[in-house]
Order: sequence, then C-alpha cells, then structure tokens
Amino acid sequence: MCGIVGAVAQRDVAEILVEGLRRLEYRGYDSSGVAVIDNDHNMKRVRRLGKVQELADALEIEQVQGGTGIAHTRWATHGEPSEINAHPHVSEDIAIVHNGIIENHHVLRELLRERGYTFTSQTDTEVIAHLVNWERRSTDTLLQAVQNTVKQLEGAYGAVVVDRNEPERLIVARSGSPIVIGLGVGENFLASDQLALLNVTRRFIYLEEGDVAEVTRREVNVFADNGEPVIRSVVESNAEHDAGDKGEFRHFMQKEVYEQPTAIKNTIEGRVTHDSVITDSIGVHASEILEKVEHIQLVACGTSYNAAMVSRYWFEAIAGVSCSVEIASEFRYRKFVTRPNSLLVTLSQSGETADTLAALRLAKEKGYMSAMTICNVAGSSLVRESDIAFMTRAGTEIGVASTKAFTTQLAALLMMVVAVGKQKGTVDQAKEKEIVQALHALPEQIEAALKTEKEIEALAEDFADKHHTLFLGRGEFYPIAVEASLKLKEISYIHAEAYAAGELKHGPLALIDADMPVVVVAPNNELLEKLKSNIEEVRARGGLLYVFADENAGFVSDETMTVIKMPHVNEITAPIFFTIPMQLLSYYVALIKGTDVDQPRNLAKAVTVE
Ligand code: AGP
Ligand code: GLU
Repeated sequence: MCGIVGAVAQRDVAEILVEGLRRLEYRGYDSSGVAVIDNDHNMKRVRRLGKVQELADALEIEQVQGGTGIAHTRWATHGEPSEINAHPHVSEDIAIVHNGIIENHHVLRELLRERGYTFTSQTDTEVIAHLVNWERRSTDTLLQAVQNTVKQLEGAYGAVVVDRNEPERLIVARSGSPIVIGLGVGENFLASDQLALLNVTRRFIYLEEGDVAEVTRREVNVFADNGEPVIRSVVESNAEHDAGDKGEFRHFMQKEVYEQPTAIKNTIEGRVTHDSVITDSIGVHASEILEKVEHIQLVACGTSYNAAMVSRYWFEAIAGVSCSVEIASEFRYRKFVTRPNSLLVTLSQSGETADTLAALRLAKEKGYMSAMTICNVAGSSLVRESDIAFMTRAGTEIGVASTKAFTTQLAALLMMVVAVGKQKGTVDQAKEKEIVQALHALPEQIEAALKTEKEIEALAEDFADKHHTLFLGRGEFYPIAVEASLKLKEISYIHAEAYAAGELKHGPLALIDADMPVVVVAPNNELLEKLKSNIEEVRARGGLLYVFADENAGFVSDETMTVIKMPHVNEITAPIFFTIPMQLLSYYVALIKGTDVDQPRNLAKAVTVE
C-alpha cells in the first residue's frame, strides 16, 4: 500500500533507502523501517513508529551501514501501527518488506506455528518471512524459496526478500502491488514507485503481475509466474526531477493547485488543434472504437469518480451517448449486465487503485468491447492492462488530496466527449470549435480564478470553527459540489455533505441553521433560476450562504449571503473553472485548523488494497 525501497550496491545504501522513503512519504504511512546487510553478513534492522525523520535519526545514532538493504513505509492493514508491526519482518536470517494484503494469512499462520515458528507481530506480512525461511531449508537458492512461497500466497503483494548470508542479492515479487526496478551502474535498486529512485537512476524495469526477479549489483533476472525467465523492457523515465520539492509553496497541495494552468496546457497539448480534437491522439484504434460505441461505463473511486460524474452530463448532453458511472468497489462485486458495444473507462490518478484495477479485470471478462483508462501515471497497472491509455499530464501529484489530477481528468474527458461526438456525428464543427477554444482559454482563466485566493483566505475563517458544511450545485455542478465537500472533509476534518440543490427540500433542509455554512456553486446557466429558488429555501430557514457565482448571475452580497464573484467563462468548461475556488477554500480552512494538509490522518495517496 505504501512504500518499498531496496538497494544492492558497493557504497553504503542506508541514506539512499531513507531518501527513497522520504520521496514516498506523500502516500501516507504510519511507521517505517529498514534492514541493512554489510559485507560481513551482519544484518541491522531499525524500525520506528511515526515519521521517516525518526527513522533517519535512529539510523544515524545506530550507525547502520551496508551495501544491501530494504526499506518500507507501512500503512497498517493487519495489526495496529506500532514498532513491532513495522516492516521489515524477519525470520532468522531472512528479512522482508511487503506492500498489500495476504488474505490467507490465518491458515498460513497456523501451518507455520505447527512447524515451530513463533510470531512477533500481528501482521499478515510475517507469514511471508517464515514461509521463505521454511522454503529456504529445502531449496538451492533464495530465488527458488521465494518462487515456492508466492505460490502459497493469496491476496496482493509487492515484496522484497533478503538473506543475511547472501548480501549480494535482493529477491522481489509482484502481484497486485507495483514494483519497479531501477538500474544503476554497478548497482541496482527497486521501489514501489519510480519516484523513490529518481535521484539515483532514470532507467527502469516495470515488473508485471506474477513476476519474481533476482536483483544483484550487476544483473536483473526476471521470471514470469510460470517460473520461466522473461525479458522486461528497460524504460527511460522523463518524470520531473523536482516533483518531490515544494519550492516556494507551503504544501504540495497548494503547489499542485497552482500548477493547474500548466497541467491543463500539457494535457491538451498535441491533442487539439486551435479548433478541433485529434481523435487519434486518444490512442491506437480510438476512432474505430469510438465510432462503434453505444454506451460508456465509467468506473473510478473518490475524486476520480467525481470527475466521471461530471462527464456523464457531458457524454449524454453533448455527444448523445448513454453513460453510466459507478464506484469501483461497488461495480466489482455487483452482478451487472453488460450493454452491447459498451466501452469501459476507468479513471485514476495513480493507476494503482485496487478496486479500480479489479473492476477493469472483471470488465475484461464480462464482454466490454474495449477498456480504456484515463490515468496520470505512466507504466501504472491500469495503463498497462487497458487497451487504450489516455494519459492526463498533470505531473506527479503528491498531496493526498487530489487537485490537478481532477481538473486534468476533466479536460481529458471533455476531449473524449468531443471525439465520441464527432465519430457519432452528434458534435458538429461549430460545437467542436467552441469546446476546443474553451479548453484553450482555461489555463488563463484558472490563473484568474487563483487570484481569488486572498478573498477566499478571509472567508475560510468563517468555516474553521464549524462542525458541518453543506455544498450545493445542480447539473454538472452537483458533482463539483461533491468534490468540494470531499476536499473539505479530507483535509480539514470538517463534516461536509453535498446535495443536488433540488434535493434539498426532500430532507437536508432540516439541517439548516446559522451553524451550518451552505456553499453554493452558481454558474450562469439554464438552471440558474432554479438554483436561486433553492438558495431562497436556505435563506428562509436562517442559513448562512456562500455563493461562488458567475459575475453575470446577478447575486449581491447581504447579511446572510456572501457572494464571491467569478469571471464569466464558457458554460461547458465552467465545472473545471469553479473547482479552483473550492480547492482554495478547503486548503485555507485546513491551514487555519492546522491539520496535516498533505498527509491527512487515516488516508493514503494510492489505495492499492481493497
Ligand atoms: C482524493 O482527494 C482522494 N484522496 C481519493 O478519493 C482518490 O481520488 C481515490 O483514492 C482514487 O485514487 P486514484 O485516482 O489514484 O484511483
Ligand atoms: N498488510 C501489511 C501490514 O499490515 C502491509 C501493509 C502495507 O502495505 O503497508 O503490515
């Protein structure tokens, strides 16, 4: 779920391991640890609850040194966050770090107890350490021991194993949790995310599902799940070097909010001319697939789900294609009916979200015509397993609260809506031109939206001592309200709900009083008058209103209503535009509350477990 780093080198690797863990800190974790082996076969393990810095301090005090090592940040799934449960876990000479969940750990634990093993942690991971130890007794090599072990595991793992007696090698296995091998000169590395290794290499091998690999200083040998050697290609990464650097910003989230004009520019670049969408830029065979498509099934989680919800309005209203949206964790367990010529589209920032990945794999079995992903991480599992990968180019997103990934997903979805509509003949040239020009105008408009920062910062004071907040929107602005409420609850821990404004009278109106700020997203569109009536319903019950309104929508601030005037933008791209002040609002409320903005409690960046 969280972070793995490994290294085999001639130089001392402790610092490289810790730097790698630091670069993965953004994923959220509760504890960390390393095991380092030196040339005299001494293995030192250090683990700490809390921040990686505590581990770094401990490593310095204990003078941990050696050329081979493994490191981990843990996001507890089995057993509370504690030093005892932190990885690496050891079984005599064997040490292991693991991301994921071993579902049959109960059975294996019993079996291993019968064999005389004692357990020192409550984790599912510890069974892997003892199993490798057991297998090592009857196999010639550590590689074989790991290959035999993984055959007995059910669940998801990215795991790295070392043996104190063999400091020259790391054995790594991947099934359900990503692992990448970083190639150096006379030294090699591995990690759960290439970002961890960008300071030591730019050359990577991505392991595939079921792969087990042996990594030494000079060689990487990969074996597929049938045990046969396989060649996995080496990929040169062009990811940004400084993605892990906050620069002038106080938080990664703030930096990422400000990166949105560039992120959108990058996402549309090369995919649109000044007035049209280049359908082929979506992917190989995209034109044929989009021409045949009769239904679009979008599947995602969290913020990516909210982006999908916005696009449902667009797919049906603009492209005239029926579209359903479902939360991945529901979709994967629902007995659904696959419609004819239905295209499955997953949306994900990370490309590693376990539920979304499971939904993709299921859909492949259930007869979807094709599977596409709109994703931000190249080389991720969703990208590799989908027929078409339409990449958002937001750049590395580090803040757990997703911001630029959301707006770039919307930009990508809008291009796709136009592409589908063109293939189907439902989007004419004039409409296409209008949308493409609106997309081109967005970066500058977002710059303007970011200028509301000071006004919003002042407003945030009104929210910081509240316990509940309501967000309202209509049409495609309803999912924008949902996304705004998700952002606020994630980083400020204030309970926030979102409602389609027309639904207010069916229950939530009962909640309205002066202690419940009500935030309204109010563009100047055909639903404006309806929305105004909904606002009056709140006002009549003494509610405190904060209306983010198009400058032409005719709202005026008064005692019970604060109006934040936004410049007028094209109606179609307005949902993307109105997202910006919502992000700023939650950011400033969290700042006042003093929460951990980039790593909110209980959350992880990439949710690679169910
Ligand atoms: C967003 O702020 C959240 N942290 C979370 O809901 C996230 O969007 C969700 O886990 C899906 O992640 P993905 O886009 O990487 O698949
Ligand atoms: N399931 C393991 C544990 O709870 C690994 C968690 C992780 O992926 O960090 O220790």
